[in-house]
Amino acid sequence: MPEYLLAIESSCDETAAAVITRDLTVLSNVVASQAELHERFGGVVPEIASRAHVERILPVIDEALTTAGITPADLKAIAVVTEPGLVGSLLVGLTAAKTLAMVLDIPLVPVNHVEAHLYACRLGAGRDIFPAVGLVVSGGHTNLYDCQSAVDYRMIGATIDDAAGEAFDKAAAILGLPYPGGPNVERTARTGNETAYRLPRTFLKEDRLEFSFSGLKTALLYEVQGQPGAHRTPPAMTPQRLADLCASFQAAVVDVLIAKLELALTRTRHRAICLGGGVAANGYFRDRVEAMARRRKVELFISPREFCTDNAGMGAVGWELLDRGRTAELDVDVKPGLIR
Ligand code: KG4
Ligand code: ZN
Repeated sequence: MPEYLLAIESSCDETAAAVITRDLTVLSNVVASQAELHERFGGVVPEIASRAHVERILPVIDEALTTAGITPADLKAIAVVTEPGLVGSLLVGLTAAKTLAMVLDIPLVPVNHVEAHLYACRLGAGRDIFPAVGLVVSGGHTNLYDCQSAVDYRMIGATIDDAAGEAFDKAAAILGLPYPGGPNVERTARTGNETAYRLPRTFLKEDRLEFSFSGLKTALLYEVQGQPGAHRTPPAMTPQRLADLCASFQAAVVDVLIAKLELALTRTRHRAICLGGGVAANGYFRDRVEAMARRRKVELFISPREFCTDNAGMGAVGWELLDRGRTAELDVDVKPGLIR
């Protein structure tokens, strides 16, 4: 008789639930996106997000159970993201999880959202992937980790300003492309020349495991709108200029991500990389990191695309935590914070 874990995710603007068996088969992975609710504000509005979670959480859990073909009584444990994220949003998922755990009298397992992004790599691998250098590149985080085991991650570097996904979203806004920016920049870049514009690569050659993308965003803005106070009017936007700008921007972000991954490999001496988060869905990035891993002869585990952007399937890490007794009492609280 298989054992089932219910994972719940509500840290930002996706209400998500998944059912995962102990052998890490994701039987259902339901994600209700709120993108259309926040689009006209140009970013996530926390109060709108928590209210939408309240409306959606029970139907989403219900659909995850139904798709998996099980009932609540079949569940062995509940994993729920308790950190980091928006306080009101996290509380909705945690309250649903606590209620189910109490009624069903099963363990409650708190999950760190950023670490779950890394564990998503394990879902595609079919075997243990640690120790490894971990990189989470999402809308909120660009974090490098020394991953000793599936539940033992030490952060060794992060961005000092914008996250990589946030940079993609801001670039898209500057270029007049719709939200979320990442997939649209990637699509537009396909017909562009990545060497057309020389955009900054902050810290590229410096011996530090930090990222900074705000200078790149400003350089792109000046390229599009002209330097403040300068007399040169920027060239008119054409489809080719747009594609070249997207390709040059994408290459600048990826150059830095690859360089810092390489530095982290050198420092930790790990022979494997795991890569998760929304930006890990980017095909150009995936190709470049594959080429680097081949060149350095290290193993590469990238999160399967369906587990890159926010979802509950990556809450499968709950099994590893459960096995190590890392469960919580019903008075456990959320830890919003921005970076762990
Ligand atoms: O992991 P995620 O869903 O949410 C956070 O935890 O932040 O990541 C969302 C981010 C957005 O900034 C989005 O633009 C970016 O991931 N993203 C991409 C791609 N798909 C999503 N960035 C570049 N290329 C993509 N294909
Ligand atoms: Zn995320």
